[in-house]
Amino acid sequence: MKNRLFSLICLLVISISLKASDKIVIPISTENISLIYKVGDNGRLYQSYLGQKLRFSSDIDQLPLGGEAYITHGMEDYFEPAIRVLHNDGNPSLLLKYVSYETKQLQPDVTETVIKLKDDIYPVTVDLHFVSYAKENIIKSFTEISHQEKKPVTLYNYASSLLHLNSEKYFLTEFAGDWAHEVNMTEQQLSFGKKVLDTKLGSRANMFNSPFFLLSLNENSRENEGEVLFGTIGWTGNFRFTFEVDNENKLRILSGINNYASEYSLKPKELFRTPEFIFTFSAEGKGKASRDFHRWARKYQVKDGEKSRLTLLNNWEATYFDFNEDKLVDIMDEAKTLGVDMFLLDDGWFANKYPRSSDHQGLGDWDETVEKLPNGIGKLVKEATDKGIKFGLWIEPEMVNPKSELYEKHKDWVIHLPNRDEYYFRHQLVLDLSNPEVQDYVFGIVDNLMTKYPGIAYFKWDCNSPITNIYSPYLKDKQSHLYIDHVRGLYNVLERVKAKYPNLPMMLCSGGGGRTDYEALKYFTEFWPSDNTDPIERIFIQWGYSHFFPSKTMAAHVTSWNKNAGIKFRTDVAMMGKLGFDIRTHEMTPAEQEYCKGAVQNFNRLSGAILDGDLYRLVSPYEGNHSAVMYVNETTDKAVLFAFDIHPRYGEMLQPVRLQGLNPDAQYEIKEINLVPGTKSILKCDGKTFSGELLMKVGIPVFSGRQLASRVIEISKVK
Ligand code: DGJ
Repeated sequence: MKNRLFSLICLLVISISLKASDKIVIPISTENISLIYKVGDNGRLYQSYLGQKLRFSSDIDQLPLGGEAYITHGMEDYFEPAIRVLHNDGNPSLLLKYVSYETKQLQPDVTETVIKLKDDIYPVTVDLHFVSYAKENIIKSFTEISHQEKKPVTLYNYASSLLHLNSEKYFLTEFAGDWAHEVNMTEQQLSFGKKVLDTKLGSRANMFNSPFFLLSLNENSRENEGEVLFGTIGWTGNFRFTFEVDNENKLRILSGINNYASEYSLKPKELFRTPEFIFTFSAEGKGKASRDFHRWARKYQVKDGEKSRLTLLNNWEATYFDFNEDKLVDIMDEAKTLGVDMFLLDDGWFANKYPRSSDHQGLGDWDETVEKLPNGIGKLVKEATDKGIKFGLWIEPEMVNPKSELYEKHKDWVIHLPNRDEYYFRHQLVLDLSNPEVQDYVFGIVDNLMTKYPGIAYFKWDCNSPITNIYSPYLKDKQSHLYIDHVRGLYNVLERVKAKYPNLPMMLCSGGGGRTDYEALKYFTEFWPSDNTDPIERIFIQWGYSHFFPSKTMAAHVTSWNKNAGIKFRTDVAMMGKLGFDIRTHEMTPAEQEYCKGAVQNFNRLSGAILDGDLYRLVSPYEGNHSAVMYVNETTDKAVLFAFDIHPRYGEMLQPVRLQGLNPDAQYEIKEINLVPGTKSILKCDGKTFSGELLMKVGIPVFSGRQLASRVIEISKVK
């Protein structure tokens, strides 16, 4: 009934816009954003507007046509096209004319608009899809390309999205870096010409550059003011964003799969569906854009986005490859004492002919190493269960070490050039997921483990190597399909895992932050942002990711990196994400152990704010010697503030920090928590009550002049 009513309203909207101007106007909107397309007298589609919501159709009618919605190669445009096609007869051009559009309500606040375009000579169809999430102000856009020519046509360019912006100035922030040095934020003004952000890693989106960006109009981006566009591509492979400022100072943003070495031969009637480009536009700066992204991600995109998360103790940095059953059982005892939900066994538990005693061998042979684990995974699951904690397991199912039985048996499953020496990244190679047999094998790794040991409660799914020696023994003469078909193969596997084990949480890991995209996160409950767990670095790394990803998706572990920072500092940083430990707690002092136990309890008690609340970035680590963020729960009666002194200067004048997101009319009690046993808060405001108004307009002092000091402050509405 609801749906029918909605369709009726849509039809009404269409006919109203038709009558008003005799022109076709296609509005795509959320509570705060309008994206408006119009059909020109020439029958072509134009993006007339993108920005803050426009409410009056009389205004919309008067907007100029704007830039062509999905620019084709071969016609009158001189800049980067969204699509380039080679037809059967050798003609390389496309001219897309508007055919129709329809609007469907997918869920109460989620609407999909599909605009159909067709070439006026060749039987090629391009459908532009827009899914808008009204309350969260998110729009997803993707494209479907198909044709009915006699033989395959070749696609050279196939953008997910083309957006036009028109401003005096454009400032682009990218999130680039390297292994253990991810998401460094740098902002630059764009001038005439192109700036391209792309990667060519094949099996992972990121190592040097992340699949997301933010773009500020007219001025450098600010946290609470200014117009910004946030965009990200849901593709776990080569991606490309092209920002092109043209001769009229207009900006086009093309987003999608990186078409590098990837021309795609499309059979008649086959559908080429691009990945989703997901974006928001905020007129209230970056903070609002991030909160919209977080809410949308939790509600609609991330696996179990609205469910709780498991705190854990991981053995990777505690043992690396050096463990046996007894040692693992001891660590499980430590997990139990710590009060975390789960013990996670990392790399090093498998392979017998070439035991996984280092990262040089064994990948691909997924049987327990008998010498290390004579009683198998089953015994470990039982030990964990007996102790009242869950058991999680690391796998890296898409990879193979040349020193493995799998490689010996199935070299035909491995991406490698047949006639050249192999080049290894971390001594391993990538399995060819374009091959359905390999997909079955990879799915089988999870399926066999789950069948044999149904008590496994969690997987950490790793993917360390980019694709090297790119050649698929399976694809033969279609090598340029490999980058795309490999990623599609991965999604087939993940889809099967999710269908058969819908309640199995999994961590998305890729040798640090190599996989941090929203398509993969449909299948994973969280991701591993970086192998760098030095808390100072993590303040920056988590700050960067927080622009797009909610805290509950960011696994953050307390480790031994940078012991200059005490256990409190390291734990407080990890508590801003999905808390875990990767350390031997028996090496800690009793006070440190007590401290960590208390932190786990506080984290669980406050997860409504930290994991499911709104994030406010208060003080940027990029701007000075301190950093602070706060999380506010949905009802604004509980908030948690994290404050860090990184390198305070001698004699620095410390300013109070103004809080955000509270109810100005409510009274709040301030209480410092996560105190090291035996110490007291030195905060002057500790234990006092203030109005939300004062906390937000005047603020409270939360910083100190001490190096590597941290504070966690619980803010509770007084009933
Ligand atoms: C890379 C991951 O990022 C680490 O956390 C760890 O799981 C290792 N792989 C294991 O080889």
